[in-house]
Amino acid sequence: MSEQPAADADLRAPDGAEEARRLLVEGEIDVEGRMLDASNVTLFGTIRSGVLTAECVYKPVAGERPLWDFPDGTLAGREVSAALVSEATGWDVVPPTVLREGPFGPGMVQLWIDGDESVDLAAFVRTDHPGLRRMAVFDAVVNNADRKGGHIIPTVEGHVYGVDHGICFSPDPKLRTLLWRWAGKPLPVAALEVLGRLADELRGDLGEQLHEHLTRREVRATQQRVAELLRTQLHPEPSGEWPALPWPPF
Ligand SMILES: Nc1ncnc2c1ncn2[C@@H]1O[C@H](COP(=O)(O)OP(=O)(O)O)[C@@H](O)[C@H]1O
Ligand SMILES: [Mg+2]
Repeated sequence: MSEQPAADADLRAPDGAEEARRLLVEGEIDVEGRMLDASNVTLFGTIRSGVLTAECVYKPVAGERPLWDFPDGTLAGREVSAALVSEATGWDVVPPTVLREGPFGPGMVQLWIDGDESVDLAAFVRTDHPGLRRMAVFDAVVNNADRKGGHIIPTVEGHVYGVDHGICFSPDPKLRTLLWRWAGKPLPVAALEVLGRLADELRGDLGEQLHEHLTRREVRATQQRVAELLRTQLHPEPSGEWPALPWPPF
């Protein structure tokens, strides 16, 4: 059955994460440019399917820069894995993200988030915004090695999104972040509840889904990080003498 292409006037943005994911999976990607400050080939474009349209980021696996401490060609799968964990927490840290074929081969496609440009990130990351605190817990779970300022996107509605999760899920401790503000402090009760649920889901369907993108060892290490957070009930502290900060920080 062939559909008539929607007229431009009928186009609309997806309503909610589920519809956004469907658009990201099914839509036709029109690449418009490349992010100049990115370390991998990170493309910006629009995606369209029927009446739905949105802006998106597309990172082809072929454009991933090789790294000494992560296996080649695995960054897109790590980004999708981070999105799966984010979905399971219900915290909506990661914008809808999928793995699919694109104009330059398989890659990750993520919904573009319009950030609030009036926010001074250097000051913002020192605040007690609950979205940042949830992000700090999320990063501890996924072992995020790169939570710099440019990977934190506050919106005008007051939500805080995180992007660039290509170097998460190492089995070795690698947490590098600007969000050490709560280190050693008790985890909020709500976070403990979410972590308890996450521990169960990691033993079930979520664990299986992660296995499509991560090694058994990496999934096991994720389960262990969650178990450790539940045991200590504290925000993790830097493992070295100084806090491990991403470089450059912004
Ligand atoms: N989904 C997104 N929504 C809005 N901005 C984004 C999104 N993904 C990336 N960006 C912006 O593009 C920049 C480069 O993307 P990033 O994912 O960090 O690529 P790289 O892996 O090459 O570092 C980010 O620092 C951020 O400013
Ligand atoms: Mg980046």
